[in-house]
Amino acid sequence: MPYRLTVLGTGYLGATHAACMAELGFEVLGLDVDQSKVERLQRGELPIHEPGLEELLRRNLDSGRLRFTTSYEEAAKFGDVHFICVGTPQKKDGYAADVSYLDAVVESLAPYLDRECLVVGKSTVPVGTAERLADKLVRLSPAGMQVELAWNPEFLREGFAVQDTLHPDRIVLGVVSERAEKVLRDVYARLGEVPIVVTDFPTAELVKSAANAFLATKISFINAMAEVCEAAGGDVTQLAQALSYDERIGGRYLNPGLGFGGGCLPKDIRAFTARADELGATNALAFLREVDEINMRRRSRTVDLTRDILGGPFEGRRVAVLGAAFKPNSDDIRDSPALDVAVKIAEQGGHVTVCDPAALPNARRAYPHLGYAESAMEAAEGAEIVLLLTEWPEFVGLDPEELGATVAARVILDGRNALDTESWRDAGWDYHALGRP
Ligand code: UDX
Repeated sequence: MPYRLTVLGTGYLGATHAACMAELGFEVLGLDVDQSKVERLQRGELPIHEPGLEELLRRNLDSGRLRFTTSYEEAAKFGDVHFICVGTPQKKDGYAADVSYLDAVVESLAPYLDRECLVVGKSTVPVGTAERLADKLVRLSPAGMQVELAWNPEFLREGFAVQDTLHPDRIVLGVVSERAEKVLRDVYARLGEVPIVVTDFPTAELVKSAANAFLATKISFINAMAEVCEAAGGDVTQLAQALSYDERIGGRYLNPGLGFGGGCLPKDIRAFTARADELGATNALAFLREVDEINMRRRSRTVDLTRDILGGPFEGRRVAVLGAAFKPNSDDIRDSPALDVAVKIAEQGGHVTVCDPAALPNARRAYPHLGYAESAMEAAEGAEIVLLLTEWPEFVGLDPEELGATVAARVILDGRNALDTESWRDAGWDYHALGRP
């Protein structure tokens, strides 16, 4: 009999994992404590913007392989393998990760676990969490030692969540028994040939923190080079291009600009340093504080540069902001660099109008005091400067002539180094970018 799977938590990670596992042919039950979210998912409505996911959700609801519930009792009865996919946000009062949602899942599920099963953590956690949860699980489950924990970190990117889940570049299994390894190998065998690293709990937890720390460092590295280019009169985009041809360096995550945001990289590097402090390894990750600071400095630099270009204070000046999501192809505004810049300019008296192809509803809810527009053309109406802060293809493909007809002044700051400089300059735009002359 094939395993029956549950997915506990239906956010970006959980909704994707549930739909993809059903797509692979498993019977899947998704659980969330949010009744309205469960109802929407059950109707085939995705509460988030994620390319390709809604079709997958609908197809698998229709096939009967996928359904959703709020009942832990039902999940416990149904599942042989339970994937925990809840979030671990930054704590309100510091840098550490808040793992209380994970504890809540274990405390809610365990009392109903009365037969052999595997519980698999996928969330990003401070190292040491898995061991603690494994003990708790056995302690609270009627089936005791027949209930086992494994740690299987998830590396998916928003905007590519389906592709990354169905075609991962590696699978990491933190396990304490051959049984757990076998169950997870069986489940993931349906993905075809994927490199699998089998390891212990702490290493599995650390792989995820290390991967995100590396990516954040690479982005901040090129943004630090942008700062030096700004001081020295160099061009960071050409510098990055030249570096990228060195195969040891590679060109991915080397795009200079406004830097990283989102629900993962910023909070994960902070949680990693906080955990290193607790472990007495503060010095080892001291550089990540610098990585964070370089990243945040890009945002203040963008605000300062905009003010400089305008030639004076923001008071009463009209600024168009293209982009609200933390990156293209997402409606996620968590720690969005674009909105951070928009808010700072508005705080200084600027009249900011923001547009975004997917994230406007979220942005409006979070920052009701900003101005919003449904299109770039509308946002740019009467603007004295246009800021490109999230490189949606819709924005990158804008016609400089057309946009030029609606603005008060043809001035643009390309915060993502995404536009074709020449065509904007040819159309009479005063073109500025981060890290370039
Ligand atoms: C990231 C990791 O990539 C993923 O493996 C992990 O599971 C979760 O965190 P995600 O948050 O979806 O994924 O975004 P990602 O595509 O990595 O981009 C993060 C941020 O970095 C975005 O704000 C993006 O604009 C920025 N970025 C990315 C750059 O500024 N320059 C780059 O070269 C690449």
